[in-house]
Amino acid sequence: MLDLLIQNATLPDGRAGVTVAVRDGKIVEVTAGLDAPAHEVIDAHGRLLSPPFVDAHFHMDATLSYGLPRVNQSGTLLEGIALWGELKPLLTQEALIERALTYCDWAVAKGLLAIRTHVDVCDERLLAVEALLEVKRRVAPYLDLQLVAFPQDGVLRGPLGPDQHMDKLKRALAMGVDVVGGIPHFERTYEQGSRSIKLLCELAAERGLMVDMHCDESDDPLSRHVETLAYETQRLGLHGRVTGSHLTSMHSMDNYYVSKLLPLMAEAQLHVVANPLINITLQGRHDTYPKRRGMTRVPELLAAGINVAFGHDCVMDPWYSLGSGDMLEVAHMGLHVAQMTSQQGMRQCFDAVTTNAAKVMHLQGYGLEVGCDASFVLLQARDPVEAIRLRANRLKVWRKGKLVAETAEVVAKLHVAGRPNAVGFSQP
Ligand code: FE2
Repeated sequence: MLDLLIQNATLPDGRAGVTVAVRDGKIVEVTAGLDAPAHEVIDAHGRLLSPPFVDAHFHMDATLSYGLPRVNQSGTLLEGIALWGELKPLLTQEALIERALTYCDWAVAKGLLAIRTHVDVCDERLLAVEALLEVKRRVAPYLDLQLVAFPQDGVLRGPLGPDQHMDKLKRALAMGVDVVGGIPHFERTYEQGSRSIKLLCELAAERGLMVDMHCDESDDPLSRHVETLAYETQRLGLHGRVTGSHLTSMHSMDNYYVSKLLPLMAEAQLHVVANPLINITLQGRHDTYPKRRGMTRVPELLAAGINVAFGHDCVMDPWYSLGSGDMLEVAHMGLHVAQMTSQQGMRQCFDAVTTNAAKVMHLQGYGLEVGCDASFVLLQARDPVEAIRLRANRLKVWRKGKLVAETAEVVAKLHVAGRPNAVGFSQP
């Protein structure tokens, strides 16, 4: 006897009329038109059944702190970092845990079941690390949280000095943080930025860990730390385990240089995470007009064979005042900023918040194949493009075969003579 049978679903790859069968938390069958006894049978009515949304880049220690202790007036990355520095001494573990758990509730309701979050390791108390490890433990039954040891103030630049900061970062890893982070463009000089990449990649190589660095998050066309990141990845044999996050300077780089850079990134099997909501608001702040968009070169990276995901990065914090954990909103913004308006481009934007992000995190058991975890989302949309267009309602969210969230169907009622009284927003 099956636990769950979902019939008449459409999958993101376009397969329609599909039945997905679940037993013991795993997908045991994905086929056309299967009918078998099950404890629960659900008719998807041709709607999209997708693997869960995945956010490959987030800052959960800062989330939902908007306005504390004040609001970012300039809207720049640098004022955001300064503001976070003002907030850090005021943080309490209880409040941080509470805000993070609230965000995880939002995430699950939106079908977002895996998040890679950077956690600041520059605080002497490592309070955010302790808090997020506790959150990770508490949400584990319904959400995968992966932590990155992120030296927000610069591992070489930070006020405690390089030895202390390296020590804090290592302590965070020893406590159970999963991934080595960095922020080379924020170090004092270009040379120091390069040194930080070398040090941190060597640390990851020694310990068999993944790397995810905030890299070149500026409008400076000469910020080229991603080149060093690719070099160190290749030198240390970290292929496929290293991610460059943001990479916004690539937007402003010389085209010839980028034509040399992309093959080097592909050779190192770097992953890239663009953060469209945040970088369309943070970048170009020093421009008059025209104002640069600032997001990294997503279509070109994909064409070069590089795995690109979109991250949410921030929700209601010193850097960004909006957001709700909706990865379709992220995909929607990424699609617009990168002008990925072709059918293929729009579908790639859906992949950027699902399968590509899962690859960045090296998630096991992810997908809609036999043997994968029975974790998926039933959307009130017929396909990935409609899902992005409507930022579609998440009708039901399952995690390993268990229903973890549901939202009633959204139907607008019209009171207009001579017109239908229900509006579904689908093309006739
Ligand atoms: Fe970030």
